[in-house]
Amino acid sequence: MLIDVVTIFPETVECSLRTGILERGQEDGIIQVRAHDLRDFTDDRHKVTDEPPYGGGPGMLMKPEPFFRAVHHCRRGQHNSRVLLMTPQGRQLNHKICEELAREEHLIILCPRYEGVDERVRQWVVTNEVSIGDYVLSGGEFPAMVVVDAVARLIPGLVGEPESVRGDSFAQAGLEGPQYTRPREFQGLEVPAVLLSGNHQMIARHNCEQSRLRTVQRRPDLLR
Ligand code: ADE
Repeated sequence: MLIDVVTIFPETVECSLRTGILERGQEDGIIQVRAHDLRDFTDDRHKVTDEPPYGGGPGMLMKPEPFFRAVHHCRRGQHNSRVLLMTPQGRQLNHKICEELAREEHLIILCPRYEGVDERVRQWVVTNEVSIGDYVLSGGEFPAMVVVDAVARLIPGLVGEPESVRGDSFAQAGLEGPQYTRPREFQGLEVPAVLLSGNHQMIARHNCEQSRLRTVQRRPDLLR
């Protein structure tokens, strides 16, 4: 999968690509993520990407032309591209959306700053508007990296053990139960004996019950 991220802060994106599975996925050729500087798609000496909104109002708005040119550039040679706009006005990201996106060949992710973007970008180039939650960040870069990470994990081959993705909360419509590692006893708290029993059937049943209990307690909405 190819992912192009368009931003005025490409270094923010590049930095998070140099760690963990995203770095490994790129080394192994499973994903390719490219960060593009929106200023490279301006046509004036000062590389201006924002202007005050027509009709007045607070703050600055991002101009449409640099985004249009950037998308045109990223699309070159690609047949099916989805263009995501990171915005608190978008559809809230969830596991199902990530699964849909993980089946795509090419994503272009636009990261506005300031008060947002000229409406014509939405109308003409964007295919999906995506929010990562009901709060406002100062730009789309971190939300874009949330999408990149969550989607990349679902691409076959990226996470070493497919089981660990399949067992993740939400992939199975519930939360994972409590998990433990060494030591067996920590500050007076013991690991449940069943997990040390070696009886795989009993362990599976225990994990299933714990997962259900935790989901009922914390996210009963997931069971409906
Ligand atoms: N940009 C600023 N806040 C955002 C959010 N919550 N989700 C996506 N993009 C954003």
